[in-house]
Amino acid sequence: MINLAKESSKLAYSPYSKYKVGASLMTKNGKIFTGCNIENASFGATICAERVAIFKAISEGERDFDIIAIYVEDDKNIPSPCGICRQVMMEFSPDLTLILSNGNDYKIYKLEELLPYPFTKNFL
Ligand code: THU
Repeated sequence: MINLAKESSKLAYSPYSKYKVGASLMTKNGKIFTGCNIENASFGATICAERVAIFKAISEGERDFDIIAIYVEDDKNIPSPCGICRQVMMEFSPDLTLILSNGNDYKIYKLEELLPYPFTKNFL
């Protein structure tokens, strides 16, 4: 999963931040979708790698996710998904496992650790 995310990070379109993120997403039935971050001159139109992978999967009829790996080549920090991506992950897979890798090291978390006391559809 880390290797697939690494491959996707090479496709990142990030001329503004120069921060190249890749994600690989495994569904509970074993399908894999990948994504990279895609930036825009109008910065707010940028989308993170994680959401590209998740939205690709949803648009192909898949909604139940098991694992997401996120890769950024970085000597200092291990990547960490942004708040919007955590919220999107929570919508579909509250029990998701995240593998975060910078090429040298990795960490594994459950989504509930990264987004405690979430706002969900159960409130509505
Ligand atoms: N980014 C991601 O793709 N995923 C993350 O987990 C953090 C941020 C992207 C968005 C933007 O293109 C760049 O990284 C800097 O914020």
